[in-house]
Amino acid sequence: MNKKSVRWGLMSTARINERLIPALHASSRSELVAIASRSREKAEGYARDRGIPRVFGGYQEMLDHPGIDAVYISLPNDQHAEWSVRAAEAGKHILCEKPLAISPAEVDRMIEAAQRGGVVMQEAAMYRFHVQTQTVQRLVAEAAIGEIRFIQCSFGFTLSRVLDIRLDPDAGGGALWDIGSYPVSFIRSTLRTEPVEVAAWQTESDRGVDLSLAGQMRFASGTLAQFTCSFQTLTHWHASITGSEGSIHLDQPWLNVVDTTGHLTITRKKTGGKAAFGDSTDFLTETITYEHCNAYADQVAGMEACILDGTPPVISLTDSRANVATIVALYTAAREGRAVRPES
Ligand SMILES: NC(=O)c1ccc[n+]([C@@H]2O[C@H](COP(=O)([O-])OP(=O)(O)OC[C@H]3O[C@@H](n4cnc5c(N)ncnc54)[C@H](OP(=O)(O)O)[C@@H]3O)[C@@H](O)[C@H]2O)c1
Repeated sequence: MNKKSVRWGLMSTARINERLIPALHASSRSELVAIASRSREKAEGYARDRGIPRVFGGYQEMLDHPGIDAVYISLPNDQHAEWSVRAAEAGKHILCEKPLAISPAEVDRMIEAAQRGGVVMQEAAMYRFHVQTQTVQRLVAEAAIGEIRFIQCSFGFTLSRVLDIRLDPDAGGGALWDIGSYPVSFIRSTLRTEPVEVAAWQTESDRGVDLSLAGQMRFASGTLAQFTCSFQTLTHWHASITGSEGSIHLDQPWLNVVDTTGHLTITRKKTGGKAAFGDSTDFLTETITYEHCNAYADQVAGMEACILDGTPPVISLTDSRANVATIVALYTAAREGRAVRPES
């Protein structure tokens, strides 16, 4: 693409747009030019308040307009695949909210449409675009803490809105689809491989949506991983990686709050010190502090690099497909009370 900036359209008036809009406004390589909503009236008020020049009273209308290069899809999870495919068919680049879709078959259709349309399509799992996440991946790949034995992580908050799309089974609701997708993505991308087997337990709402879920994954290397996700806890999150030679701890693994400060603490054994049982007693602890984190701005920069410079995506569609396949396997495991091998 021989251009200097990307002209963006937002597909819906979703609340999450509030994280992306300032990042788009702040970037010299992006221009927020339009918003589409099911209701033109709603879109007009929304656009007026946020300085967005063009309004469409329907998603397809925006896709049909030649003045848009890329769309941000912030629709309920069950609509991600349909509108990503339509956007690709219209020749638009796509940043689609997580989870990319709710079945591997849907992701296959999206991959096919992106290839046919020759467009960039990427999942908006923003934490993956931040240097903190990339540093963890590098440290693990360099065996900075030896062989990885365990990964443990969590993401939870209190969901108080009764009519939230997250509680609607027909809209791809559920804690695992919503926030469990982060731990699943973190575990898989840190290890750069897929689990051979998963297990899970969940507590459900009256409508059959998981409100809390605890999942486990087993990898061929012998690494074991555990995570929790919940709509029924006080806000909390963490990620820990435990290896044969040390450990890594993140207090802000998901970077879902703009301007937050994250700490990556790496603990390694000092050579020499031995206790009665042969275990090390002396540790070296180093903390890397990431201030003013804005993973949403990094995500915008990541899309700009793909679209304008032709760089490879941070999250490939194959990666997102494997995340979806793992989540589907975890749901099967929770519902059927057995360990499940994810679809490859
Ligand atoms: N990356 C992150 O940090 C993050 C955080 C939160 C959410 N998300 C993801 O972003 C997406 C949106 O989440 P959200 O909480 O922002 O959603 P939301 O506020 O409920 O908004 C969803 C939007 O989708 C449109 N829509 C179309 N069909 C709908 C239907 N049948 N029911 C409800 N809305 C419908 C509506 O826009 P119009 O009426 O204008 O068409 C609505 O405003 C989800 O995929 C979620 O997983 C990501």
